[in-house]
Amino acid sequence: MVSYKEIQASNALINDATAPRVAVFAGGTSGIGKLTIKALVATGASVRIYLVGRKSAEERMRIFIQELHSINPKAEVVWTEGEIALLRETKRVCDVIKSKESRIDLLFLTAGYAPFGRRAETAEGIEVTQSLEYYSRMLFVLHLLPLLREAEAPRVVSVLGGGLEWANVDLDDMDLKKPGNFGPMKAQTQYVAMNSMALEKLANDNPQVTFVHSWPGWVNTGNVRRGSEPNSVMAWFAWLFLEPLIALFSFNDEESGQRHLFQSTSAAFGGRGVPWKGKPGINSLLEPLNGLFLVNYKCDCTPNAKAMPLLRKNALGKIWDHTQEILQPYL
Ligand SMILES: NC(=O)c1ccc[n+]([C@@H]2O[C@H](COP(=O)([O-])OP(=O)(O)OC[C@H]3O[C@@H](n4cnc5c(N)ncnc54)[C@H](OP(=O)(O)O)[C@@H]3O)[C@@H](O)[C@H]2O)c1
Repeated sequence: MVSYKEIQASNALINDATAPRVAVFAGGTSGIGKLTIKALVATGASVRIYLVGRKSAEERMRIFIQELHSINPKAEVVWTEGEIALLRETKRVCDVIKSKESRIDLLFLTAGYAPFGRRAETAEGIEVTQSLEYYSRMLFVLHLLPLLREAEAPRVVSVLGGGLEWANVDLDDMDLKKPGNFGPMKAQTQYVAMNSMALEKLANDNPQVTFVHSWPGWVNTGNVRRGSEPNSVMAWFAWLFLEPLIALFSFNDEESGQRHLFQSTSAAFGGRGVPWKGKPGINSLLEPLNGLFLVNYKCDCTPNAKAMPLLRKNALGKIWDHTQEILQPYL
């Protein structure tokens, strides 16, 4: 475990020279994304943050941005409205950002929620959480890669379940559309595995960019209840059991934000970024450099040697081909 003291010491080194000067947060309107934005802004560094969110968050974000500006007047936060559960909207948001920037240092992806409700699809025919937690995230990466490649220490962080991959991904029904094939555990494991496979492929193809798939542990953001219908058994279960359990074992908001800022900036992951003298993290291929870093809530890395080699051998190619098919119209 990287101690909280070490995390704080590393984050204290973030300044105008080492900060991600241009960052995009998709999912920063609440939870871990929002906490990480706050931690980044509180460093006092000069940063420009594209805060992407849906219309319904706009008023909340106007107040949040004012608060951020009073913490650090050198931080510019650009509210960028978009319904990113939709791929055409994700493309539009990326086009807006591309028209304004020539380089991006950090892409931080957190949109989504536990798929505990009934299967619901977006207008584009994709299960909502799969679109948020996988397809839209990969579309962000593919659109913004040319700008990430222009940065000195570019990084992509996808927060979901890095290290929790299981080998039994469903390759015959990747989008879990067959009747009865969608369920909370199945969807969760499917999207985690798809994230790790696509991110590993992208990391291998783009060695100049650091890729992190982060598992945040338990953070008490209300995320587990988002997907459940009000007053359903699942909503009650989440309220009565899951949330108190999460509250008991989770990191507090401040520490979660600091830990994710560390994952977004430290050279512990791949050697680029804020200098790190501790043990370097290993990537999913057991190398200290490049590749995909599967990082847990303690900021430890794992190759997940049980599942990743099997997924790599049996699933990566199929997942990538299917992903290309889905995303092609929006590239
Ligand atoms: N918190 C945990 O303990 C935990 C544990 C493991 C994995 N995770 C995963 O890690 C990721 C981040 O978690 P979190 O706790 O930070 O989540 P969160 O607080 O629930 O925030 C997720 C973000 O997703 C956005 N979002 C939710 N539904 C949306 C929709 N239909 N369309 C567009 N945007 C939508 C939210 O926007 P609004 O602000 O507009 O609602 C928010 O910006 C999630 O994928 C979560 O499933 C979380």
